[in-house]
Amino acid sequence: MNAETGKPQTPYEALGGREVIARMVNRFYDLMESEAQYAPLRTMHAADLGPMRQSLTGWLCAWAGGPRDWFEENPGKCMMSAHRDLGVSRETAGQWADAMARAIAECGPENRELGRMMAERLDMMAQAMVVETD
Ligand code: HEM
Repeated sequence: MNAETGKPQTPYEALGGREVIARMVNRFYDLMESEAQYAPLRTMHAADLGPMRQSLTGWLCAWAGGPRDWFEENPGKCMMSAHRDLGVSRETAGQWADAMARAIAECGPENRELGRMMAERLDMMAQAMVVETD
């Protein structure tokens, strides 16, 4: 927070910090677990989504300019490389981005425009993870 203006200095602060990010991530995995339309995406993941809830929350906090614990705990780990061998398809990437956009809209920051921008960036990242099989 800027001491003079009282305005947030990072996207992390503007989003509402770890509390809001954890809330969005939990909603994201709840949607993935409960809705049939995300079944192909759910199948790619381990049975226990608990570790993923922690990991994605930590990664997003650092990505948004907050505490960098995730990068310190995972030195040198690149999110794009980590997904290279997972066989991300256009279909499953679309499911990931759709569930995330919904989670952000439902549980995200008060600033709707910021939430929309975040969803858009994550969508671009998910699309860039697609492995072309044709
Ligand atoms: C912006 C896009 C994405 C971000 C930020 C992201 C983030 C993450 C994170 C933080 C992890 C955990 C890594 C770890 O703790 O070692 C992970 C794992 C994983 N991600 Fe993503 N991911 C994205 C897109 C996707 C997409 C599009 C898919 C599939 C279509 C996907 C499928 C997976 C799977 C299957 C795992 C391993 C989970 C497990 O072992 O249960 N991710 N991702």
